Amino acid sequence: MTAQDLATVRADYPGYRIWREITPGRDRYVARSLLPGLNPHTVVTADLSELRSVLEPAGAIPDLAAFTAARANIARMYDRWLGGKDNFEADRAAADGVQQRFPEVAEVARANRAFLARAVRYVARHGISQFIDAGAGLPASPNVHEIAREEAPDARVVYVDHDPVVLSHARALLAVDANVSVVAGDIRDPARMLADPALTRMIDAGDPVCVLLVSVLHFLSAGDADAAVAAFRRWMAPGSYLVISAGTTTGTDPELLRQLQAAYAGTAPVTGRTAAEIEAWFDGFSLTRPGVVDVWAWRPGSIQRPAQSRARMLAGVGRKPSTGNGWPM
Ligand SMILES: C[S@@+](CC[C@H](N)C(=O)[O-])C[C@H]1O[C@@H](n2cnc3c(N)ncnc32)[C@H](O)[C@@H]1O
Repeated sequence: MTAQDLATVRADYPGYRIWREITPGRDRYVARSLLPGLNPHTVVTADLSELRSVLEPAGAIPDLAAFTAARANIARMYDRWLGGKDNFEADRAAADGVQQRFPEVAEVARANRAFLARAVRYVARHGISQFIDAGAGLPASPNVHEIAREEAPDARVVYVDHDPVVLSHARALLAVDANVSVVAGDIRDPARMLADPALTRMIDAGDPVCVLLVSVLHFLSAGDADAAVAAFRRWMAPGSYLVISAGTTTGTDPELLRQLQAAYAGTAPVTGRTAAEIEAWFDGFSLTRPGVVDVWAWRPGSIQRPAQSRARMLAGVGRKPSTGNGWPM
């Protein structure tokens, strides 16, 4: 094991102080919890991989995302709406409850996933070969690296999430080769995410990159979301692409927002944003046609407009101008 491996484990488990202890005849790693209630409290092992597997269920970012099967969870409810199998009873009960009253939520979730695929394909066709999928969610085929590689076979993809279940599934299913990595990170702290060695090893910040913030920003407070998007915009090299989708209050039944807030209570906020606020996330970027529109309407191919929906999610793809334009570098 190298110092770099230890640095990566430290970055992945910020809830722990982790150090190497070398004494005559003994060489081992110790991890000690820095937060009350974070279990296990202490782990001692000579094997860094074992340390990782013991810490894994505790999660890397232990606050909102701490693992529990007893409470509905963002990624697993979304998985239920997409027709996946990686969900527990509490997730199914909450997802099905919302869907009973608003059957269109599952349709919007699928349309969102289809938007993500079209956007990645579009961006890869425009010469981008490095992607950061922030708030990546549980693996849902085709995943970003699979889509990007259809256009750019050497594409490099970093999946970021703060949910320990997502991270362990992603590490098992997505980290298939040296050009894909999975990073424990929180969108509310972009600086830390972007400095993570597992990300910097993969992404050249001097070159254009695609940052995906798809169906995640509505799980942040308005202030956190605006600050995070602004930080990504500043960090991205000229020629980079920003891909965003988010739930909007514009045209969405307020009762649906209330139901979602109740379903995620104690897990994450659900913040409705207006169409204008979502458009503002692209400030200084050139929006690709057709602009910020319903997820199903972004370069839709064969997808048909839903008859009527009380649930709206908006999507857009913006490009950071290559030069000038008054963009603060
Ligand atoms: C609805 S899923 C979207 C998955 C995928 N982006 C898609 O659109 O198909 C939202 C994901 O964002 C993650 N997430 C929520 N808040 C986050 C945060 N502050 N930092 C990192 N990930 C977050 C959740 O854990 C979940 O996996």
